[in-house]
Amino acid sequence: MTARREPSPARSETIARTEPSPARSQLLRAVTIDWEKIDRGSYLRDIEALASVEEITFEKAVTFFVGENGSGKSTLLEAIAVACGFNPEGGTRNYNFSTYDSHSELYGAMRLVRGIRRIDWGYFLRAESFYNVATKEDEYSRGPGGVPQHYHERSHGESFLALAQNSFRGGGLYLLDEPEAALSPQRQLTLLLEIVRCAREGAQFLIVTHSPILLGIPGAEILTFDDGPIHPCEYEDTDSYKVTSMFVNNREQVLRMLLE
Ligand SMILES: Nc1ncnc2c1ncn2[C@@H]1O[C@H](COP(=O)(O)OP(=O)(O)OP(=O)(O)O)[C@@H](O)[C@H]1O
Ligand SMILES: [Mg+2]
Repeated sequence: MTARREPSPARSETIARTEPSPARSQLLRAVTIDWEKIDRGSYLRDIEALASVEEITFEKAVTFFVGENGSGKSTLLEAIAVACGFNPEGGTRNYNFSTYDSHSELYGAMRLVRGIRRIDWGYFLRAESFYNVATKEDEYSRGPGGVPQHYHERSHGESFLALAQNSFRGGGLYLLDEPEAALSPQRQLTLLLEIVRCAREGAQFLIVTHSPILLGIPGAEILTFDDGPIHPCEYEDTDSYKVTSMFVNNREQVLRMLLE
C-alpha cells in the first residue's frame, strides 16, 4: 500500500516486510483521490485517515480496512463501490435501487487503477443495508432464469451467509462492510473459508471488519485507519486482536478494573 504522504519509519518497515506480490494480477490495483474535486468545507477533509491521501494501492487478494468507529472505513469502501459501478446500498453491479441517498462526494474525486483482468462479476455487501439487498435478491431470483431464493425466511446470519455463498465465485471483486455483523464465530470461520477459496481462484476482496477471526486470513494486507493517514498494520497490532485477546485472557481482571 502506498500513499503520497511521507511514510513514517514504522510504515516503511512494514512495507519492506511485506512479500512482493503480483500487483498486476489484482482486479483493482489502486485508487487515487483528487482532493481538488472535494469541497473546502466537506466533512471528508476532517477524516484523518483519508485527508490528503492521494493514492491507496491494493497488493493482495484480500485487503482489510480496520480502525475505530467513525475512522472513515465505510466512507472509503462505499466510494470505491460506487466508482466501480455498484449500487451504493449494495448488491451486484446490475442492481439499481436506492432507498436513501447516503453516498459521499468522494467517489466523484476517485480514479480507479484497474489490473489487466476485467471486473465482470462482483458484489458489494454491507451489514447495515442487508435487509434491502436480501429483498431485491429474492425479487430478482424469481425473474427469468433465476433460482428462487427465500432470504427473508431464514435468520439474519443464515441468510447473510447463504447470500455470500450464492454470490461469491472465483475471479470476482467483492467489497464487504462488516460481514461478521450477522455471523456467529462458527459461521465467521465458514465465511473465512469461502473468502480464501474464492481468493485462490482469482477473486479480490476489500473487507471492512472488526472481526479478529476474519482478520486472520493468511497473506491478507491489513490497512488501519487509526493514528493518522491510512497505513499497513500487522494482525497482532490491530485493536480487534489486542482488545479481544486481552479480554479473553484476563477477563476477571479487566472486568474488575472496568466495573470498580
Ligand atoms: N453525511 C455525512 N455528513 C457528515 N459527516 C459524515 C457523514 N457521513 C459520515 N460522516 C462522518 O464521517 C466519519 C467516517 O464515517 P464512516 O461511516 O466512514 O466510519 P466507519 O469507520 O465506517 O465507522 P464504523 O466502524 O462505526 O462503521 C464519521 O465521523 C462520520 O460521522
Ligand atoms: Mg462503517
